[in-house]
Amino acid sequence: MTDHTPVPYAGPTRVLSGVQPSGALHLGNYLGALVKFARLQHEMDTFIFVADLHAITVWQDPALLAQQTREIAAAYLAAGLDPAKATIFPQSAVREHAELAWIFQCVARLGWLDRMTQFKEKSGKHKERSSVGLYTYPVLQAADILVYKATHVPVGEDQKQHLELTRDIAGKFNHDFGVQGFFPQPEPLIQGPGARIMSLRDGSAKMSKSDPSDYSRINLTDDADAIAAKVRKARTDPEPLPETLEELGARPEADNLVGIFAALAGRTKAEVLAEYAGKGFGTFKPALADLAVDKLAPVGERMRSLLADPAEIDRILKAGAERASEVAAPTVAEVKKLVGFWGA
Ligand code: AMP
Ligand code: TRP
Repeated sequence: MTDHTPVPYAGPTRVLSGVQPSGALHLGNYLGALVKFARLQHEMDTFIFVADLHAITVWQDPALLAQQTREIAAAYLAAGLDPAKATIFPQSAVREHAELAWIFQCVARLGWLDRMTQFKEKSGKHKERSSVGLYTYPVLQAADILVYKATHVPVGEDQKQHLELTRDIAGKFNHDFGVQGFFPQPEPLIQGPGARIMSLRDGSAKMSKSDPSDYSRINLTDDADAIAAKVRKARTDPEPLPETLEELGARPEADNLVGIFAALAGRTKAEVLAEYAGKGFGTFKPALADLAVDKLAPVGERMRSLLADPAEIDRILKAGAERASEVAAPTVAEVKKLVGFWGA
């Protein structure tokens, strides 16, 4: 009998993630992604890129794209990523992402992509007018991850399905080409109170750059006054904060604000409730506003000062791209050999 137990991946652990340069970053991106990146760089070899190839799946003004890429890089640095520890680079500067993505398009099945909910959300009513790239977006994401044989991927909750697809592609590639353990099965790192930050206007909608109301989100570039005003105006209910997580869970807006407090303070929601149970939003909101200003305003300031020296950001991105290519190129060379291409 043949043994079909997958051979485990035996290579080194490696962290990889990215954010698209397609609009201002908000608190959800900061807590769901950037803060985790900065923490993980101390634990594992870390690769963090600006997902500009993903950004052009919807129209991006060519006159602005490079600057938007620098802005994301500045946000990474402002959030604490250190170019001496983490490899920071623009996705389009490392050609192996696109090269592996093509091969993966021939590995992934149409039925797998048909299930992707983000495409359904982003294409809306006009599926037939969406770019083909918007549809195959998760396949490029799998290439981003696997070209570095990354084992850990810190992301917000909304990326869970894309990580499952990445695991499916890795498994099918290893199986089809008879190379068990060649690609790892990357683990999403999603846990924590910051994994799904909701809109400040609607506790049932994700905080998002595409929400037309600026009061729905706190932008990383908001100044102290704007941050405090948005917390003050956040939608809530009239009840005081409850004692238990179960009761909190039934109140989406309250749950969200407690989650934001917990994530910013580096505490659990239960710990925040232990302090604020029985208190109304008249007490909780000012405390949250102070905390948010304290944690976020300096990040915005650091971003602005970094952006005043674009040449330094460009230097970091260029050095990062070179380092990233050194890791990505051998993977693609091996893959081309496995696929059987001429000259590989
Ligand atoms: P994007 O801006 O869509 O490229 O997202 C960049 C990162 O931020 C991804 O890891 C997302 O999962 C994460 N993210 C986006 N929105 C939120 C949110 N509302 N709450 C938590 N994480 C988020
Ligand atoms: N799709 C991710 C998002 O919208 C961005 C992304 C692209 C990504 N490639 C990735 C995240 C690889 C993690 C790993 O947030």
